Amino acid sequence: MLYNIVTYGCQMNVHESEKIAAILEDLGYTETQKREDADIIVFNTCAIREGAEDRAFGNIGALKQQKKKNKNLIIIVCGCMTQQKSVQEKLFKTFPFIDIIIGTHNLYKLKNLIQRKLDDKKRICEYEESGDLHEELISKRSSGDNAWVNIMYGCNNFCTYCIVPYVRGREKSRKKDDILKEIKDIVQCGNYKTITLLGQNVNSYGNDDKSQGTFSQLLQDICDIEGDFKLTFMTSHPKDLGDDLIEVMAKNDKILKELHLPVQSGSNEILKKMNRNYTIEHYLSIVEKLRAKMPNIRLTTDIIVGFPGETEQDFMQTCDLVKKVKYDGIFAFMYSKRSGTVAEKMPNQVDDETKHRRVNYLLQLEKEIKAQKEN
Ligand code: 5AD
Ligand code: SF4
Repeated sequence: MLYNIVTYGCQMNVHESEKIAAILEDLGYTETQKREDADIIVFNTCAIREGAEDRAFGNIGALKQQKKKNKNLIIIVCGCMTQQKSVQEKLFKTFPFIDIIIGTHNLYKLKNLIQRKLDDKKRICEYEESGDLHEELISKRSSGDNAWVNIMYGCNNFCTYCIVPYVRGREKSRKKDDILKEIKDIVQCGNYKTITLLGQNVNSYGNDDKSQGTFSQLLQDICDIEGDFKLTFMTSHPKDLGDDLIEVMAKNDKILKELHLPVQSGSNEILKKMNRNYTIEHYLSIVEKLRAKMPNIRLTTDIIVGFPGETEQDFMQTCDLVKKVKYDGIFAFMYSKRSGTVAEKMPNQVDDETKHRRVNYLLQLEKEIKAQKEN
């Protein structure tokens, strides 16, 4: 019995798929890279932009023939798309061959749901508005010598363009002891060189449960674990990144000197409309402090172009910022309207042609900076 998992989206999803793999192996299934040979296919979806949703819809639709040939094939759809009620209903109706659809808060039930499906054949659609932490879920790690470790789930920030707080719920920090135990086990097994801590906004670790301490204290406690390993983390929010974090990063050799610090826009006007809660001046002051303590730190960022109301002048400010910071990598995205977010209803939506032009301009700028740095 074989399974195949199709993963869309961010590192959180990549790691979640490792948990799904562990559930399927526990049920006696073995992984195959060939989707056409699988007895169970899982789509772990992403909802961050329309393009990701369209790709998933297309690839799920393409399974119709495979299901016709193999009536026993089980098709499961989970992840951020299925936590939107309307999308869940649309998937259920449009694709009658999907067997199980579950939202983001039901993964802990997956094993039971597959067993139920095998017993009575009925289609299953599960949805919970919110959820708890599930420490019992283990991972079948398969990201080379990197081990992902969730430190928190969800997001409280409600950036006006972003669907994550709606599909992943409010911030929930794992207990520090549980995180430390997981990491000690990873270090002890000796298979992993790097440990990457995951959270939508790692800097607010512990805000929902002060007894766990802060993110920088957590980092220090992890560095104090004996053993030969490197530590990194994502994603950081500039509004919550304090001097304590910079200190801990600078003084611990175990922490990689790299930071993904999404800026999203170089215009204070747009940052305000995005509800990002920092100014470009503040952002630049963080970059300055980071480089003062760690001159060779690798800085990367996310930028959205074509946010509603973004003028040519706003965009030029983003380009100016990019030239100033000279990032080591930029992930540039065209703004994509997400249903239920505040920005969806904002006036002055930007046309696609302008978005394409701006994103290409940024990519060109990134190339030029890279060439300059290599010289
Ligand atoms: N449109 C385009 N990009 C988005 N991101 C989040 N929401 C959207 C959206 N609606 C980007 C942000 C974030 C990254 C993970 O995805 O830049 O940092
Ligand atoms: Fe989305 Fe903003 Fe939360 Fe990041 S911090 S997940 S961009 S709402």
